[in-house]
Amino acid sequence: MPLENRDPSTLRSSRWFSPDDLRSFGHRSRMKQMGLDDTDFRNKPIVAILNTWSDLNTCHSHFRERAADVKRGILQAGGFPVEVPVMSLGEMLMKPSTMLYRNMLAMETEEVLRCHPIDAAVLMGGCDKTVPGLLMGAISADVPAVFMPAGPMLKARWKNETLGSGSDVWKYWAERCAGNLCDGDWNDIENCIGRSAGTCMTMGTASTMACIAEAMGMTMPGAACIPAVVAEHSRLAVATGRRSVELAWEQLRPSDIVNKQSVDNAIAALLTIGGSTNGIVHILAMARRAGVPLTLDRFDELSQQVPVLGDIRPSGRFLMEDFYNAGGLAALLERLRDLLHVDCQTVSGTSLGQQIAGTEVIDNEVIRPRDKPLSPTGGTCVLRGNLAPDGCVIKTVAADPRLLKHTGTALVFDNYPDMKARIDDPNLPVTKDSVLILRSAGPLGAPGFPEWGMLPIPKKLLKEGVRDMVRISDARMSGTSYGTCVLHVSPESHLGGPLALVQTGDEIQLDVAARSITWNVPAEEIQRRQSSWKAPEEKWQRGYQAMFAKHVTQAHDGCDFDFLEGRSPQREPDIF
Ligand code: FES
Repeated sequence: MPLENRDPSTLRSSRWFSPDDLRSFGHRSRMKQMGLDDTDFRNKPIVAILNTWSDLNTCHSHFRERAADVKRGILQAGGFPVEVPVMSLGEMLMKPSTMLYRNMLAMETEEVLRCHPIDAAVLMGGCDKTVPGLLMGAISADVPAVFMPAGPMLKARWKNETLGSGSDVWKYWAERCAGNLCDGDWNDIENCIGRSAGTCMTMGTASTMACIAEAMGMTMPGAACIPAVVAEHSRLAVATGRRSVELAWEQLRPSDIVNKQSVDNAIAALLTIGGSTNGIVHILAMARRAGVPLTLDRFDELSQQVPVLGDIRPSGRFLMEDFYNAGGLAALLERLRDLLHVDCQTVSGTSLGQQIAGTEVIDNEVIRPRDKPLSPTGGTCVLRGNLAPDGCVIKTVAADPRLLKHTGTALVFDNYPDMKARIDDPNLPVTKDSVLILRSAGPLGAPGFPEWGMLPIPKKLLKEGVRDMVRISDARMSGTSYGTCVLHVSPESHLGGPLALVQTGDEIQLDVAARSITWNVPAEEIQRRQSSWKAPEEKWQRGYQAMFAKHVTQAHDGCDFDFLEGRSPQREPDIF
């Protein structure tokens, strides 16, 4: 925005610092208590850096340095940076699941932005739930904001192998259980698989969400794929800081960015990268915060049009560093241009179409040409049937194609402890054709909707060489996981959904091409079981958990709190 058009009285922070009254005297004098003077913080945008750094978030260990880079950019552009810590959701150390706390971060983000003299925000996140948590909050607060992703860690090497986060852990754990990997090798993998600062370097939930944020228009161009520890990542942070000051002057808000079309772009990105199924839940939640009435059906509609072009693990062969070197998300999206809404506004000040124009694919193995996709359509599919009346999802591109049409008998685990206790029992009545079912693993049942959906293959089958089976649950699975896993069954078993009534020995039919999941039990028998089903007791009675249990929505609705969906005008605090 030209200098002459900048009017400091239009800044939100001026409501705190400009009036000649007692309250504003207090605001100013206490800023000065910190050694600041008027030149520091008056008549210029105050940009909050919402930093999800924590010593317990293994993926954000570089965030203090990056926050310093962002500050440098804000100062260069004539803004005043303030760093504000918000809840850090580190995937690796939080129990039972970070998903339990995504909405808490979203609430904190919304209220922090609303109650402080903040003109714009840089949202620093990366590890899985920090991305939707920050974005959901910023969308609701509707303060100008730009997302700054943590970036993936570097590729790991072990012996002659390239290791990918999560995916290779599951792979080598299975080999260890099958007796094919010694303790020394397992220990070596533990030592080297997390090679640098940054998020998982497979196309897990973190990278999926970074790509979704970029495609939705909420990041600077090319931000999603830059590895956390390369020099370009620091430059991205500085550029993000600089741009955030302009966002404040331009008053460009999330409501100008996130709409039906940009949500479609985000879904297309999710599908074409073969991204995490968690992205579905998070896009639903973000869209609904923005007042976009999204349902699972839209994912399936777009899934029938969008090819999977990103050949990235766990769906494909390569890792995020390869994706970055191949041109990154922008180059991939340029290949999909005809399927995108290219006129959508982005935080960078240009349209998505301008942002991706002319980006070149450097490596056609990593970013496939349109005529040689990893999958022509249907990388992730939505299924329905009498086992999942409100829908469930499967990432077909990461499944064994042989199992996408399958009929088998159910082997039911009542909950996670039951599964853990019995799965490796040599007498478990299981064959490679069984359908493993886990219940009590949904948003309410687990509780917290953990990533238990990639049920382990029973040891006795691993020893026979089995590496994939049909698995069905009301859980999520990690974006780094793979296999024929039907997830997010809705309504969940805790609410008496059909999964609660399935018994070992029932016949289950999966037909992905027909988008169906069928429980072959007569209606009278289902009714008989339904009448004797007893609702489990609520496990949580106090605090945040009690609020979660009372208000979280089901997977097909995005698992937001029912009272936070949609746009609602919120009173600004400046009159107090
Ligand atoms: Fe943080 Fe995977 S554990 S991104």
